Amino acid sequence: MLNSKLQEALNKQVNAELYSSYLYLSMSNYLAQQNLNGAASWMRMQAQEELTHAMKVFDYIHARGGSVTLTAIEQPPAEWNSALDVFEKAYEHEQKVTKMINHLVDLAIAEKDHASHNMLQWFISEQVEEEESIKSIVERLKLISNAPGALLIMDKELGMRAQAK
Ligand SMILES: [Fe+2]
Ligand SMILES: [Fe+2]
Repeated sequence: MLNSKLQEALNKQVNAELYSSYLYLSMSNYLAQQNLNGAASWMRMQAQEELTHAMKVFDYIHARGGSVTLTAIEQPPAEWNSALDVFEKAYEHEQKVTKMINHLVDLAIAEKDHASHNMLQWFISEQVEEEESIKSIVERLKLISNAPGALLIMDKELGMRAQAK
């Protein structure tokens, strides 16, 4: 049985993962408006992946006999300055999520909840991957700077991202 502190914190994480999905969907919308359809598709898949994260926590709360409370999802921004700006903000967001996951692990340890600690290790690894993949896109967009030809090539490459896990 999940204790109330962990239940509350995990419920917040469900909301945070749903917000991540909402944020990335908004970023996808902006990128599509810029005619960067490959980057828009990449971000849409990222939004889809965040939904699977929310459901992982949702299912875990149920598995431990806890209860899920769905709360309002904050409205995400809708405008950015460029594709680089979008991916920089996504990178900052992922770093925030990593901190949240780390706090959850701290709480699981403090509460001696080994099952939650174990479940959260998946998220620890996932955050390493997510930070790495978004950071590498940021770095490549910086190299491209304002060269439209190179941006279109990179857009095409981003559009080839395989379906979310
Ligand atoms: Fe996530
Ligand atoms: Fe993420």
